[in-house]
Amino acid sequence: MSERIFTADLFSHLISLWRFVIIPLIPKGPVRCLEIGSYEGKASSWILDSIVKNHSDSRLDCVDLWRGLEEQERLFDTNIASESQVTKFKDFSVNFLAPLVTQPPMYDFMYIDGDHRGEVLFTDLCLAWRCLKKKGVMAVVHYLPDGIENSDVPSPRVAIDSFLKIHKSEIRLLEKSRHLIVQKRAVPLGGQE
Ligand SMILES: C[S@@+](CC[C@H](N)C(=O)[O-])C[C@H]1O[C@@H](n2cnc3c(N)ncnc32)[C@H](O)[C@@H]1O
Repeated sequence: MSERIFTADLFSHLISLWRFVIIPLIPKGPVRCLEIGSYEGKASSWILDSIVKNHSDSRLDCVDLWRGLEEQERLFDTNIASESQVTKFKDFSVNFLAPLVTQPPMYDFMYIDGDHRGEVLFTDLCLAWRCLKKKGVMAVVHYLPDGIENSDVPSPRVAIDSFLKIHKSEIRLLEKSRHLIVQKRAVPLGGQE
């Protein structure tokens, strides 16, 4: 495959953290991964190369609107969409996730990096969580306040804190700095095997 091309790198600063925290928790067999918000495919490429390609039956689903992002979508397509283990879904995250919540959870790993506005992120987190298997891992961009914090729009931090509170008994907190990484407990705290 030819060299991948990116005009922006919103991901590389996370690689050492992900290697240390996430990789040891990924099952050895086939895995199903999800990325909400794929942009040019920078994080998708890393997930593909470091996790998905370890097993021929593993899959990566990439969801993005690419609204007004024609050039980014074109780059995503040439960088990654033609890879046999990747499936591209061009849609709102909620449209992708909502039908899945009535099915048994299917994902082993997910990266939530779509719309960062608090109310949208909160919906994505709650829906995506329902699709994550027990012991599955979820990474979420932007825990720390960003520019949105000072506007009327709820920040990512408000969404993430609300999500953590509501799902507290099911969550094993792995990282909560600039970035959030959580694992779904096999048994909720206070629950029974
Ligand atoms: C910060 S970029 C993702 C960067 C990418 N994860 C990476 O590391 O290279 C956010 C992406 O989310 C997409 N997005 C925003 N709102 C969305 C929504 N409601 N549903 C699906 N994708 C959305 C945007 O089109 C954009 O490409």
